[in-house]
Amino acid sequence: KPRMYHERVVDHYSNPRNVGSFDKKDPNVGTGLVGAPACGDVMKLQIRVDDESGKIVDACFKTFGCGSAIASSSVVTEWVKGKQMEEVLSIKNTEIAKHLSLPPVKLHCSMLAEDAIKAAVKDYETKRAKSNSIEEAAPVKKAADA
Ligand code: FES
Repeated sequence: KPRMYHERVVDHYSNPRNVGSFDKKDPNVGTGLVGAPACGDVMKLQIRVDDESGKIVDACFKTFGCGSAIASSSVVTEWVKGKQMEEVLSIKNTEIAKHLSLPPVKLHCSMLAEDAIKAAVKDYETKRAKSNSIEEAAPVKKAADA
């Protein structure tokens, strides 16, 4: 009987790491929510970032999708923990696919994980830029009130 999936896929699928959710409104949390047009599967990947160092201190995911997508997101949450945000932006879906020995038809599943981590970093940065501009704007407003 041919083995369809690599044992790492089976491992991450049957025992996914870091399944869960963080509070989306937490200023230290970045949320990436992406969908695969090819199959309609959806992946939510979240990171918790340390403001000072820009380091990802925690990550979690929820994936409504196939086994390869679940395994890909599980792997990525492990890879990003303890890394700098800039570092994880260079994670390529091909690395994930290689690690899991995904067949070509399952490449888009690993793409979902690459897109999700990028989206999570972007979300965090957007939030942070917004809160910075509020902090900067606050003294101006106070001065105007006075
Ligand atoms: Fe679409 Fe795997 S089949 S994410």
